[in-house]
Amino acid sequence: FVFAGNEKEPQVLNVAHRGASAYAPEHTIPSYKLGDRMKGDYIEIDLQMTKDGHLIAMHDETLDRTTNGTGQVKDHTLAQIKELDAGSWFNETYPQYAKKKYAGLKVPTLDEVLAHFGSDKKYYIETKAPEVYPSMEEELLRILDKHGLTTKEKLENKNVLVQSFSQASLLKMYHLNPDVPLVQLFWYDTPGSITDGELEAVKRYAIGVGPNFQRIDREYVQQVRKHGLEIHPYTVNEKADMEKLIEWGVTGMFTNHPDRLHEVLRGK
Ligand code: G3P
Ligand code: CA
Repeated sequence: FVFAGNEKEPQVLNVAHRGASAYAPEHTIPSYKLGDRMKGDYIEIDLQMTKDGHLIAMHDETLDRTTNGTGQVKDHTLAQIKELDAGSWFNETYPQYAKKKYAGLKVPTLDEVLAHFGSDKKYYIETKAPEVYPSMEEELLRILDKHGLTTKEKLENKNVLVQSFSQASLLKMYHLNPDVPLVQLFWYDTPGSITDGELEAVKRYAIGVGPNFQRIDREYVQQVRKHGLEIHPYTVNEKADMEKLIEWGVTGMFTNHPDRLHEVLRGK
């Protein structure tokens, strides 16, 4: 089965989760650069929205964990967020990977990330907390459009995949532009299963699903594949798990260690 890349060789997509976030502060330009250098096929970007309507790359709805600020993103303007240090927390938490240059890093906007890496790179973008940010899908499309990522060629080439746990957000994206490839995320706290009916419903708007890998099994993967959908589990950091999932037939996965996944794929 061919999803992307070399037409002759089946490919398992290597998604650099928050960049190469095992080695650099997540959702910063150095983390994304490292993900690219470590042969990630996609840069994964979580989106939050500032008080004044800018989409920024950040996982949490609050500033506390990944910056020296506090409080909700939605209560801060971009100018206020640009004052913050998005790298020192990483140096303190992971001294083995600390680098002086990480101290004082800024939170990037989506616009800045796309300007930095250009329209030939591939981006796997998540609408986070869309119920908190009612217009984030429109703004996302506006920014993608601005960077030439919504042309027929770029959409067919899957230069952008949009993912969300929120079906409502994906349906909104679908209605705004049905050609943007979408991935429905799932989180299971008990062993995951998915019915034919659920998969047919997903297939109406999305090209694939993304479950947490710990709760799925071979049967789940094959059930998804039987419906012709992609399956990109998250977040897979150990080589033994990567190998197991590839053997089950996944078509990609999210990892904080794109270098490890590259080694696993190259070794095959
Ligand atoms: O987007 C896939 C995976 O990243 C979902 O979990 O919490 O890391 O965004 P999270
Ligand atoms: Ca994510």
